[in-house]
Amino acid sequence: MKIGTPLTPTATRVMLLGSGELGKEMIIALQRFGVETIAVDRYADAPGHQVAHRGHVINMADPIALRALIEQEKPDIIVPEIEAIATEMLVEIEVDGIEVIPTARATQLTMNREGIRKLAAEELALPTSRYAFAESLNGLRMAIDGGVGYPCIVKPVMSSSGKGQSTINEPEEIEAAWNYAMSGGRIKGGRVIVEEMIEFDFEITLLTVRAYNSDGKIETHYCAPIGHRQVNGDYVESWQPQQMSATALHRAQEIAVAVTSNLGGRGIFGVELFIKDDQVWFSEVSPRPHDTGMVTMSSQYQNEFELHARAILGLPVSIEMNVVAAASAVIYGTMDEKGIAFEGVDSALQDAQTDLRLFGKPEAFEQRRMGVALAYSSSTDDARRRASHAASQVKPIKE
Ligand SMILES: Nc1ncnc2c1ncn2[C@@H]1O[C@H](COP(=O)(O)OP(=O)(O)O)[C@@H](O)[C@H]1O
Ligand SMILES: [Mg+2]
Repeated sequence: MKIGTPLTPTATRVMLLGSGELGKEMIIALQRFGVETIAVDRYADAPGHQVAHRGHVINMADPIALRALIEQEKPDIIVPEIEAIATEMLVEIEVDGIEVIPTARATQLTMNREGIRKLAAEELALPTSRYAFAESLNGLRMAIDGGVGYPCIVKPVMSSSGKGQSTINEPEEIEAAWNYAMSGGRIKGGRVIVEEMIEFDFEITLLTVRAYNSDGKIETHYCAPIGHRQVNGDYVESWQPQQMSATALHRAQEIAVAVTSNLGGRGIFGVELFIKDDQVWFSEVSPRPHDTGMVTMSSQYQNEFELHARAILGLPVSIEMNVVAAASAVIYGTMDEKGIAFEGVDSALQDAQTDLRLFGKPEAFEQRRMGVALAYSSSTDDARRRASHAASQVKPIKE
């Protein structure tokens, strides 16, 4: 294991595919170890572009453009930060000898809900909601009546952040859910998954890290469970730790190790699980830092980005928390405008236990995540209160 000097022939070069808020923090974590960073996104001046050694704007779903850029930059390691990438090209590039984190296969399986669901439920026999796939309105009706039942949730197989997702309570709602899914998928005319609605007590992200130990073997580490609240399939607040029974936590870790060891490689994974009493269901997994894991910027000695950076570079990791409890609360754009400003940052930070990240996104949308408030405290309830209060103090304005 060695790290070179950035911008010289010895440089250790890492390319981020996707350079949003998670990519930006990844780049900062990598730079602290003297890594040369290359930020790629589909639009100019993305958050990660603003902190990387170099930035590029390409359509990462275009395999030709992706390959050309990788040949030009010759990174040692490629770190995907989003799902919408030509992952079949990553498979080829990995064969050519460039490392893809955690593995090209993991990025391919998880970019499509069908791949990861079949792996988890059918191959690994992990508990999941009942589910079926459909590619027409009629097929969707048959899938629901043929076993999935009501209420259920329809999602495009290729989508993220709740896009195109809706709940169906009765047959009259099927057509609207189908049309909504067709408008929200990443690829036109795609397939959908329809899932039984799990009536969970709460849901968690179990950040799971695969990193080398001192014997040079991969070891699996679990961060304290992160609880979160989703609205329309998008996260609005998260906290750590989420209290849960020892049995449920043990089951959650068993599920996490089963799925992450199958996906393989090194790095952090966000394993999403539903919990009811001692019962645990696998929902999905990100082979990368997770948005709800931004709380670790307040709660852990090594936050999720530092853990990912260390694991990628072959360095030791520690998942210890440095506070009793912490929380994060999302700050939204609240308007569709370019180059907005934020008022109230000073009021938000009056509470010494709070902190803020403003991502610097060039364009705001009403529901776009523009920043996050962080807070720690002696209880998750109080940390949540402080984070939400801080977030509410920050007011996007049009200059
Ligand atoms: N089968 C389900 N039962 C209950 N809630 C669900 C189910 N599937 C999704 N959800 C809710 O919707 C959120 C987003 O769904 P998810 O599958 O994680 O999509 P995304 O990839 O957009 O994050 C979940 O975090 C959960 O709150
Ligand atoms: Mg999710």
